[in-house]
Amino acid sequence: MLQDKITQYSQEINAFVTDKADELEQFRIKYLGSKGVIKEIFDAFKSVSIEEKKSLGKVLNEFKQLAESKFNTLKEITESSESQATVNELDLTLPGEGFEIGSRHPLALVRREIVEIFAKLGFTVAEGPEIEDDWHNFSALNFPEEHPARDMQDTFFIKKGGEKGDIALRTHTSSVQVRMMEQGQPPFRAIMPGRVYRNEAISARAHCFFHQIEGLYADENVSFADLKQTLFYFVQELYGEGTKVRFRPSYFPFTEPSAEMDISCTICKGAGCQLCKYSGWVEILGCGMVDPNVLENCGIDSKKYSGFAFGMGIERIANLKYEIKDLRLFSENDARFLRQFKSALI
Ligand code: DAH
Repeated sequence: MLQDKITQYSQEINAFVTDKADELEQFRIKYLGSKGVIKEIFDAFKSVSIEEKKSLGKVLNEFKQLAESKFNTLKEITESSESQATVNELDLTLPGEGFEIGSRHPLALVRREIVEIFAKLGFTVAEGPEIEDDWHNFSALNFPEEHPARDMQDTFFIKKGGEKGDIALRTHTSSVQVRMMEQGQPPFRAIMPGRVYRNEAISARAHCFFHQIEGLYADENVSFADLKQTLFYFVQELYGEGTKVRFRPSYFPFTEPSAEMDISCTICKGAGCQLCKYSGWVEILGCGMVDPNVLENCGIDSKKYSGFAFGMGIERIANLKYEIKDLRLFSENDARFLRQFKSALI
């Protein structure tokens, strides 16, 4: 009788357990396969009497569901026990996968090197805000009203004509000199690294933001000779002994006299190359004696005190050191570029 067969198979199915994939496959073939028990019973069902069909139809369907759900449940169990087995097969004696240590940004490396050189001369580090008012960025530094740097073309203004005058993204780190001098009396001996902003179209040679390091030394009897010797020492430390320096007269509103300092080309050592445009010299910074007006603007007696200041672009120094020809590389965060600057100074 079909009913007896179903009862017997149902008992077998209920009793069946395994966590092995091959045993489960045997189960599937036996019950659910194309020549399996279910197929056989459904075939037999076709030839039973109409009376029997009525009572057996439901039983048959329940039997089929029982076999299917048993199969599905055991499938989950075998799969999870198999992945467990893979975990257990891990060879813990193999070397680990290891991960790469990041590298410092070239600008951070150069900034640190500069800070360390000046630290040997007793210079501390000071910082100021990137959003500046007109006074600290321009007026206190002796910029005349109509100076072109105050133009919208050159400066990113945030607010025009507020309580404290115009508010802008600082265009140079010289603003930090002013903040420092306003807060005390000489002696001052500090360098001031930071980011600055200018309204420039981005290209290989210009960017709308870059980094500078400002320097200030003010005390009684500070002279241009002190400026020259300090910067000469800096260049020998940074680029190696024997690097030549020269000063060319220049103009900045906040220094008098003012100069630009060149060094003998670090690439061709003065012989002439593309970098120095075959002159043998490359400019690295602007400098000068702090204009007495600036000292007075900051509440410092210009009869008693004098000082020198300088400002340099960190990108420029890094370009000379690493021969980077495109400024945009510094801010694109391309890991292939950054990975090259592994240093001992982690
Ligand atoms: N602030 C100038 C600039 O952004 C750089 C500079 C020149 C700073 C001469 C100084 C200095 O302190 O004395 O181009």
